[in-house]
Amino acid sequence: MKNKGIILAGGLGKRLLPLTKSISKHLLPVYKRPMIFYSLSYLIYMKITEILIIVKRSDLQQFQLLLGNGEELGLNIQYKIQNKPNGIAEAFIIGEEFISDDNVVLVLGDNFFYGPKLKDLFNSILNLNKGASIIGKRVRRPERFGVITKKDSGYMEIVEKPKIPKSDIALTGIYFFNSLCVDFAKELKPSKRGELEIVDLINKFQDAKKLSYFQLTEKDFWSDMGTPDSLFDVSEFVREKELKKLQLGCVANASYEMSLINEKKFKNIKGEF
Ligand code: DAU
Repeated sequence: MKNKGIILAGGLGKRLLPLTKSISKHLLPVYKRPMIFYSLSYLIYMKITEILIIVKRSDLQQFQLLLGNGEELGLNIQYKIQNKPNGIAEAFIIGEEFISDDNVVLVLGDNFFYGPKLKDLFNSILNLNKGASIIGKRVRRPERFGVITKKDSGYMEIVEKPKIPKSDIALTGIYFFNSLCVDFAKELKPSKRGELEIVDLINKFQDAKKLSYFQLTEKDFWSDMGTPDSLFDVSEFVREKELKKLQLGCVANASYEMSLINEKKFKNIKGEF
């Protein structure tokens, strides 16, 4: 069984208008790299080379210009179109053929993670291979996210953007599933806001007793980049790290570090990626 990756990079980016009127949010600069490089780097650090990027039809050409088929990075990148933002869980219906019988890690293209032990955490979750795994993080404004409330019984209540959150733990935008996610996604009905909700899909794994939970520590940094403030804050965070000579979201470095490309190839593409 292989591990594959999907990056969800469609959607309208409404909270970032007018920036996103003519360009995908996921191609906007986050300090000195396009936003999608950060999501891509997490997959590379898990040595996942088969990647599907889901985009809006009008953005496809630009993504292809940026990343092509991934060959230069030692990857195999395919693209699929999402016609309308019908919800995060639709990724598994669009990606059915790509996933086949394999495991899949879904990363939201606007999520940013940083932490000293994150690579280890992601890799250990990948090796666990148990139905579904999700990652939570304590945040200040949980009502902006999916919210996870742990009950005594071990059951978790996972609710999308509750008005009055029962905990301060947000559901981050990286999800680990086995191929059951395709069948479960097909069973979902659109929510009141008309979307196939990722929390409904996760709850199906929970009902089947196939859900594992992990939590980021206070030392880890996680944010989405879907608003002007969060985009600016993450850019500033990355800049500060770069000033300390730490390159984040550098997919060329990641591919070289993970031995997906040799030194010659690395030197050729450095600067472009
Ligand atoms: O960032 C984590 C949060 O992401 C989770 O806590 C929530 O449970 C989850 O629903 C999601 O909430 P958002 O409101 O932030 O989702 P948003 O609509 O901004 O979409 C997240 C990313 O997925 C964004 O990069 C656009 C993309 N997307 C989203 C939808 C709904 C698509 O490509 N297609 C879609 O249909």
